[in-house]
Amino acid sequence: MRITVVGTGYVGLITSICLCEMGHTVTNIDIDDKRIAQLKNGRSVIYEPGLQQLLENNLKERRLLFTIDPRIAYAQADLIFIAVGTPENPDGTANLEYLQEAVYAIASHIEKDVIICTKSTVPVGTNEKIAEMIKDMTPSHLNVSIVSNPEFLREGSAINDFFHGDRIVIGTEDEKAAAVLQELYAPLKTEIMVTDTRSAEMIKYASNAFLATKISFINEIAAICEKVGADISQVANGIGKDKRIGSSFLKAGIGYGGSCFPKDTKALVQLAGHVDHPFELLEAVIGVNNRQHTLAVAKAKEAVGELAGKRIALLGLAFKPNTDDIREAPSLTILKMLMEENADVIAFDPAAVLNIQSIFGNEIQYAENINEALKDADLAIIATEWDQITQFPLVQYEELMKTPLIIDGRNCYSLSDIERHSITYISVGRSPHAQSAIARV
Ligand SMILES: NC(=O)c1ccc[n+]([C@@H]2O[C@H](COP(=O)([O-])OP(=O)(O)OC[C@H]3O[C@@H](n4cnc5c(N)ncnc54)[C@H](O)[C@@H]3O)[C@@H](O)[C@H]2O)c1
Repeated sequence: MRITVVGTGYVGLITSICLCEMGHTVTNIDIDDKRIAQLKNGRSVIYEPGLQQLLENNLKERRLLFTIDPRIAYAQADLIFIAVGTPENPDGTANLEYLQEAVYAIASHIEKDVIICTKSTVPVGTNEKIAEMIKDMTPSHLNVSIVSNPEFLREGSAINDFFHGDRIVIGTEDEKAAAVLQELYAPLKTEIMVTDTRSAEMIKYASNAFLATKISFINEIAAICEKVGADISQVANGIGKDKRIGSSFLKAGIGYGGSCFPKDTKALVQLAGHVDHPFELLEAVIGVNNRQHTLAVAKAKEAVGELAGKRIALLGLAFKPNTDDIREAPSLTILKMLMEENADVIAFDPAAVLNIQSIFGNEIQYAENINEALKDADLAIIATEWDQITQFPLVQYEELMKTPLIIDGRNCYSLSDIERHSITYISVGRSPHAQSAIARV
């Protein structure tokens, strides 16, 4: 089977490389010639654990081809996966321009029967529109099947998620196309669900909305814990033991970010609004998350007052560990707020510095390592729970910082560990006992 994947981003590149790992030969197309040139040279365009090595292997084995030429990518393809971005429009709806361009290019170049599979997250009804567009643009003797195949991989563990996902959703009214995809995915031994197209599209939005809801829910409970003297870590642990609830996505912190939850929740609110159903619950989830992004700086100001001129070490810039993705990361809000306060910021991240630099340039300083960031700092804000950060010895904060004050937006340290050090430690949803330590320091 000749497979083409459209887009070399987090979803497209992972899909291409993992399909190659399954033994397929894949053509991966992008409109960004710089990305394609870099990939042809064997250098990954994103950071994802394990990806660089698999890229090199599959290029060497000649299973993976990169191109910007739509004729090469589409003319003879049997199966095309669309994995282009669907960012948000200013009003929160999904921007489908990249998708439409991709479909236009596919329709203009296909020369044989083909299955088109949409991995991009798209509003309910989009795949039907793709089908109409293809029908209008292609000769009637071509049989083009459209399938919604939403992607559930998580950045940071994307390769593992491809091979060991919780489920694969195939949404289509075309039984033959469904069978082809079932056969393609069969070696993964992951449960495959075949649904109608609209339900598949909705499963993706509903999944992300539910996970975002869990996060905002626990963050609301955390805020109340702070006021009533309960400890969110213990509370979350206790809640999570209930199998009906489950323990994942119950970690209090400074909110979710990334390229999916923020835009997908907003797109679902818009989608609901357009069918005359205000999604009030999800609107509140988004509101809580926006507030969480401002929490670390609010807590910093509460602790030390004016931030102007204060040297602040920002530890972690990526929206979550093990990725260089900074889209909608809480660090962006934190940095903007710290700039407004005229703070003197030095930031550290193991993978995302270049991406942050492209936005903030030299407005802030960048540290090579945590030690350099903490040297003579007045306070440290932890925004991402990278292993390097969670495992960083607390004693070093004492030794390196001017005043050892940590605002931990990800609850990286246990309070019992903190108590063994003379550090002022303010985290999310945990005992005012830690906060009362400010007075002692
Ligand atoms: N990133 C994730 O963790 C994740 C997870 C599940 C689903 N998704 C969804 O998958 C889709 C892709 O997300 P992503 O994070 O990989 O995006 P991305 O922005 O990282 O990559 C998109 C790529 O598509 C390319 N592109 C745009 N238009 C094109 C065209 N016409 N032809 C060829 N290439 C084109 C871009 O140049 C870019 O390289 C989105 O709809 C997203 O919501 C993302």
